[in-house]
Amino acid sequence: MSSKKFKVAALAGDGIGPEVMLEAIKVLRAAEPKFDFKLEITEAPVGWAGIDFAKKALPDITLDVCKRSDAILFGSVGLPERDPTLPKEQRPERAALLRLRKEFSLFANLRPVKLLPELAEICPLRPERVSDGIDILVVRELTAGLYFGPKHTEDIVELHEVPGQSRRSRKAVDTMVITSGEIERIAHVAFQTARQRRKKVTSIDKANVLENGVLWREVVTDLGKQYSDVALEHMFVDNGAMQLVLRPGQFDVMLCENTFGDILSDEAAALGGSLGMLPSASLGQTSAEKTFGLYEPAGGTAPDIAGKNLANPIAQILSAALMLRHSFGLTAAAEAIETAVAKTISAGYRTGDIYQANGAATRKVGTREMGDAIAAAI
Ligand code: IPM
Ligand code: MN
Repeated sequence: MSSKKFKVAALAGDGIGPEVMLEAIKVLRAAEPKFDFKLEITEAPVGWAGIDFAKKALPDITLDVCKRSDAILFGSVGLPERDPTLPKEQRPERAALLRLRKEFSLFANLRPVKLLPELAEICPLRPERVSDGIDILVVRELTAGLYFGPKHTEDIVELHEVPGQSRRSRKAVDTMVITSGEIERIAHVAFQTARQRRKKVTSIDKANVLENGVLWREVVTDLGKQYSDVALEHMFVDNGAMQLVLRPGQFDVMLCENTFGDILSDEAAALGGSLGMLPSASLGQTSAEKTFGLYEPAGGTAPDIAGKNLANPIAQILSAALMLRHSFGLTAAAEAIETAVAKTISAGYRTGDIYQANGAATRKVGTREMGDAIAAAI
């Protein structure tokens, strides 16, 4: 029987991107022969790597590679030291990452946060607050909302506090725009994934203040009637942020607008131990049983530790597992990678971000050693 073949665009990007990408590819290569699949991986520059290569954060050649692939495995982009040297529309975050999300209509962002029992000691919450565990899926709308609404900055003349006087000033405008169709399609994803989990959706909004929130709540409530087997509750975003640190165990699926999901997923990741453990899948609509996706760690480029063999590669490795599951339907291989990560943590391997010198049987390791151990555990 011939093995299944898939094309992957590997866009490592900046900062720690390249070194964690290397480990993810190492783990994928270890999984291939065991699960009978073959990946054709094409690497292409993005972010500052793209700017240095072709003066564009998303070079045309990179976009072409993505279009010819079945999925994108993405590292991270942006270097705070260099970003201000470019006009903001050309900076990596907007010109590469947000552009790719929009270009491929990747509207559904899934961010699974789990606190592994062995990492309970690095959870910043008191033990009694996490006694029922943390296993949350943040479902974040990714192509609308505050990120993509009309925005601009303009010079204005503003009235001064002193009557009769005015002064030159500047005004920045971002608009939160969402349609009921956009809310529906992301809500479907939340309800459907909840069915595979503990069957609870907490829909996050700011319906007490924002028009967006009122519409969000109406549409999600209506749609919820089609999913009577899933429990639906609504929560204001400020309360959601608080509940996460008070009683994270109450959450199963958190359904969020783009900006709210960005903020809450970082908060949730910290509860799970480290941002270095948080993978993400950004998915488009499934057509002809195929789901195109971009898979990336939710953390940033971490330039301070880049190139020093210090970064935690787990978020990138788990992102590769999500790619196998969601874009290639390779469920067993995805599970094997997730199990290998858990085993490696159990065996005591810790990168700096998840290490605590407390005498337990753990060992501080570098990026490569962590990748090697996970690949060996497949
Ligand atoms: C994320 C990141 C991005 C976002 C940045 C890098 C543009 O923070 O994926 O959460 O804000 O969406
Ligand atoms: Mn973020």
